[in-house]
Amino acid sequence: MPDIELLERQLTARVHASAQPSEVLRAPEIRQLYAQIRTLDASQRAEFGARVNALKLSIEQAIAARQAELDYVELPPIDVTAPMDVNAALPALLPAEQGSQHPLTREIARISEIFGRMGFVTEQSREIDDQYHMFESLNFPKGHPARDDYDTFMTVETDREQEPLIAPAHTSTMQNRTLVKYRDQLERGEAIAAIVPDRVFRNEDLDARHEHTFYQVEGIYVARGVHAGMLVATLKKFLEEYYGRQLEVRVNPFYFPFTEPSFEFALSCPFCEHGCNVCSQSKWIELLGCGMIHPNVLRAADIDPEVYTGFAFGCGIDRLVMMKYGIEDVRHFESAKLDFLRQF
Ligand code: PHE
Repeated sequence: MPDIELLERQLTARVHASAQPSEVLRAPEIRQLYAQIRTLDASQRAEFGARVNALKLSIEQAIAARQAELDYVELPPIDVTAPMDVNAALPALLPAEQGSQHPLTREIARISEIFGRMGFVTEQSREIDDQYHMFESLNFPKGHPARDDYDTFMTVETDREQEPLIAPAHTSTMQNRTLVKYRDQLERGEAIAAIVPDRVFRNEDLDARHEHTFYQVEGIYVARGVHAGMLVATLKKFLEEYYGRQLEVRVNPFYFPFTEPSFEFALSCPFCEHGCNVCSQSKWIELLGCGMIHPNVLRAADIDPEVYTGFAFGCGIDRLVMMKYGIEDVRHFESAKLDFLRQF
């Protein structure tokens, strides 16, 4: 009769030393024990069989314990509040030569460069703002029905007036801040001239032309004697530079609470003479909203509307870029699809 207790001690020792302890179950010694059961006569078989099974069970328990020991990895203590490179090495980045700028980033730089040559500085917007900058400072009093045109996302947190903070639905939120920031220039006889190309958000039904997250460029120009002709000329010049060709423009009356008069600005289709898909066969492309800054908006920034006048415009950047490159679906921009991005 084999010494089962000795074998159990040997196999257990093997389990403790092994990096793959479950292999021990396949030891030939165990197979031999099972083979032996059949050769015994009936009177010994039951007892011997029970001892072999008990051995196997004991080895299985040792294996489970050893495996748990192997699986346990001691983690170094970390400070979860520390900056990312304190607890771990900086993640490896893709080599820069394999990446490229996002098409919108590149086009925003181009837009800033064109306006920069016309004397406009570039300002940044915010991704969370308050109702004062979204509405009140822009001459939308509380309860004004035109607020409904700017349905966007709100936070649970509230501002000083207990109203929810919002993801701005247009870059016009920066009009008041920009006017306040640069108003000293007016007294020195210089104009306020700024653009704000940045991200905005709306609660939209998504389709090829509507995204919940998109980009606008706001333009703000204030000085003595500014008139609507200067607005039209500035936009026409910008668009001709951007598309690299002569364009016709068309201005229709419109309504915004923060400009008076307000206009809807269209340009002749840069891609056709007789109608095409881009302009829906109309030869015109409605591009942006604009107008003369409302006196109440100037007053809210402590600028005297009797002395100074100005214009403002807000233009969708995604649309501008889609037309330039023949991109058919606005959702590509936020999709992070490499086969789209690598074309730029
Ligand atoms: N903020 C307006 C919009 O998003 C556009 C606009 C900007 C109109 C500036 C006039 C002046 O619809």
